Amino acid sequence: MKAREIHLNEYLTGAPKPENYSLVETELAAPGDGEVLVKNLYISVDPYMRGRMSGIKTYIDPFKLGAAMEGGAVGEVVESKFDGLKPGDHVMSMLGWRDGYTARGDGLMKIDTTFLQPQAYLGIAGLTGLTAYVGIKRIIDLKEGETLWMSAGAGAVGSAGIQFAKAMGAKVIATAGGADKVEYCKSIGADAAVDYKATDDLTAAIREVAPQGIDAYFENVGGTHFTAAMENLKQYGRVAACGMIQRYNDTAQASIPDNLVYMVGKSLKLQGFIVSDHLDIQPEFVKDLTEWMMAGKINPAETIVEGLENAPNAFAGLFKGENKGKMLVKI
Ligand SMILES: NC(=O)c1ccc[n+]([C@@H]2O[C@H](COP(=O)([O-])OP(=O)(O)OC[C@H]3O[C@@H](n4cnc5c(N)ncnc54)[C@H](OP(=O)(O)O)[C@@H]3O)[C@@H](O)[C@H]2O)c1
Repeated sequence: MKAREIHLNEYLTGAPKPENYSLVETELAAPGDGEVLVKNLYISVDPYMRGRMSGIKTYIDPFKLGAAMEGGAVGEVVESKFDGLKPGDHVMSMLGWRDGYTARGDGLMKIDTTFLQPQAYLGIAGLTGLTAYVGIKRIIDLKEGETLWMSAGAGAVGSAGIQFAKAMGAKVIATAGGADKVEYCKSIGADAAVDYKATDDLTAAIREVAPQGIDAYFENVGGTHFTAAMENLKQYGRVAACGMIQRYNDTAQASIPDNLVYMVGKSLKLQGFIVSDHLDIQPEFVKDLTEWMMAGKINPAETIVEGLENAPNAFAGLFKGENKGKMLVKI
């Protein structure tokens, strides 16, 4: 079977461009013993992939040049020589950025699509949702009645986080870029939302919607957002540092915010995290998510770009705010 895959041509600095990638035709081998042939249905594009394009080892290896890139994907089994999977089954893999693949069946995760669409496993019911849950539940330990600021509130992690925090009985304020995203954050439960692009004083804009201050900040953006959070956090406030997307395409080193000194005076607690270090919380997440979904409290939002060839554009779109909810590519 013929298939296409996307290769990274070179390691990059600055914003990703179309010439950084190649779309390569390949022939998928028929499955051998213990293998399956899978057609991808949806692939995930995520901000962390930008780090893998820099050629520097962080908590994860860089992408290999001249080879199919990796990333979350859900697909359908077409042919199987593996006992645990049959044609028509849905599986999740890290073999994204390609139309399909032949791989060992025991390296794939079978997913149950009785109640959820397959792509939900790349979004709210997958690592995206788990990231929001870990940040709110484990890192921040959000309590009922507390006020949480969710940054990048209209994005994948942000929109999941707003809904989870509301389901936990918190007050949620969100920030997002643009009036329609502000309305979107409110439509999924945010008590107030601020268009950070429409203000040159984010500290004051947050104070206006949370005059008593915030108990917790979910950091997805960095830069001026972080500075404004330091100003608005109450005594004993907590910060979950999940990501700082504002910096991912930067070519120069950032300076440390002057007001970091509030960490001391307000006895703030800041903890970064990588979701894969917290997989033990998965059963608790599934239990809570199922309960919230059954109660109609969750709306799994997605932005879908069609066609593997458009995956680089979808990825670049994350840095231009082109998504509401999870950015996915439909194959
Ligand atoms: N720690 C972990 O394990 C983990 C796991 C998953 C994700 N993350 C992090 O969580 C954050 C959100 O990820 P996601 O997958 O949910 O992506 P996302 O929020 O769905 O998409 C990225 C959003 O970030 C905002 N953005 C992009 N460039 C920006 C800039 N220069 N300044 C301010 N905002 C900018 C845009 O929203 P606006 O239009 O509102 O600006 C964009 O829609 C990222 O920082 C990511 O690295 C961390």
